[in-house]
Amino acid sequence: MSENATRLTDAARAVAANAHAPYSRFGVGAAVLLYDGTIVTGCNFENASYGLTLCAETIALGSVNSLGKLSQVREIAVIGGSIAAGRISGTMIVTPCGRCRQVILEAAQLSHCNVPIHCASAEGAEVVTHHIADLLPFAFGPDNL
Ligand code: THU
Repeated sequence: MSENATRLTDAARAVAANAHAPYSRFGVGAAVLLYDGTIVTGCNFENASYGLTLCAETIALGSVNSLGKLSQVREIAVIGGSIAAGRISGTMIVTPCGRCRQVILEAAQLSHCNVPIHCASAEGAEVVTHHIADLLPFAFGPDNL
């Protein structure tokens, strides 16, 4: 595993502890590495209307946008697992949901980078790296406008 993948999955695991997920009981953490070396994190933020949940990746990339650094996105990690007894556990690897893939694509095209996404579980050692062009083929993004 690359050094960046290790740093980013560690950061994603740390921020997942702050997930507000009382409805799904599934905590997710995401970490975004920028070209200037900054790591920006996010975790899922559910609410009582269920369907208006904000995913970890989207929260993290929203923060990147707020920093004015959307075109500096270089790599992303995402992890997740079930919340039980106040901790996040499990060995099932999490990959970004459909909406998050579109949000990642926006940053990827602005960054001119086929962004790698390091996908991992809460507890397992395995990390599977996918690239956004593979996760969202035949995509419609800013390059089309
Ligand atoms: N979730 C994310 O945060 N990111 C994803 O890519 C997949 C799903 C969250 C949303 C919800 O709070 C919980 O995981 C269960 O779907």
